[in-house]
Amino acid sequence: MSEITFSWPVKYKDGKGRSILIRPYTDEDFAGLKKMYDSFEPKGIEAGIPPVEAQTRDKWLRSIVSNFYTILATYRGRIIGHAGLDLSNPDLCPEYLIFIKQGFRDCGIGTFMTKLMKKLAHQSGCKKIWLTVRSANTRAIRVFEKAQFQFKGGIDIQREMELLIKPRSSRVRRKDT
Ligand SMILES: CC(C)(COP(=O)(O)OP(=O)(O)OC[C@H]1O[C@@H](n2cnc3c(N)ncnc32)[C@H](O)[C@@H]1OP(=O)(O)O)[C@@H](O)C(=O)NCCC(=O)NCCS
Repeated sequence: MSEITFSWPVKYKDGKGRSILIRPYTDEDFAGLKKMYDSFEPKGIEAGIPPVEAQTRDKWLRSIVSNFYTILATYRGRIIGHAGLDLSNPDLCPEYLIFIKQGFRDCGIGTFMTKLMKKLAHQSGCKKIWLTVRSANTRAIRVFEKAQFQFKGGIDIQREMELLIKPRSSRVRRKDT
């Protein structure tokens, strides 16, 4: 894991005036994050993610939280958003993912978290981020384009986007306060 300095939690007032707190995931959050995905709808929309079947979903989630740098959006202590980026090796091009729970979409949270993750990637020395998205998921594409992701490769049902990040000369220490 690359070292990241940030002052947590980050506060965001969403489009409905709700106070959203954004902070890194800790192991104690697993049950709460699982709960968010158990009630997440629709499941299986993005290349089968989040998995529809409970055991597969559990396995997927365990793998994400152990391999990705994970941030959570919470509202009144409840997890309502999750974004992840594989920062284990900033020399590689890590994959980005984001899911916002129904009831909290279209309120700016996804855009805010994506731009925040871009800053974290920059701090960690990461040069490029990529993701795949369905071409029909125009809302997600809008969010990614607002954060300066660009399409890569040909037009298909599933498309790849990448975000080039200006390199940073030195690494910084992580401070999850
Ligand atoms: C996609 C997702 C992460 C976006 O997060 P969000 O918090 O809902 O998005 P935001 O409110 O920050 O921004 C939505 C933007 O898309 C626009 N939008 C909404 N519906 C749209 C649509 N059908 N087509 C195009 N743009 C749309 C909004 O107007 C807004 O843009 P604006 O700020 O310029 O007005 C979230 O909706 C989500 O989790 N969806 C389900 C799972 C998913 O698709 N994840 C992405 C996997 S790649």
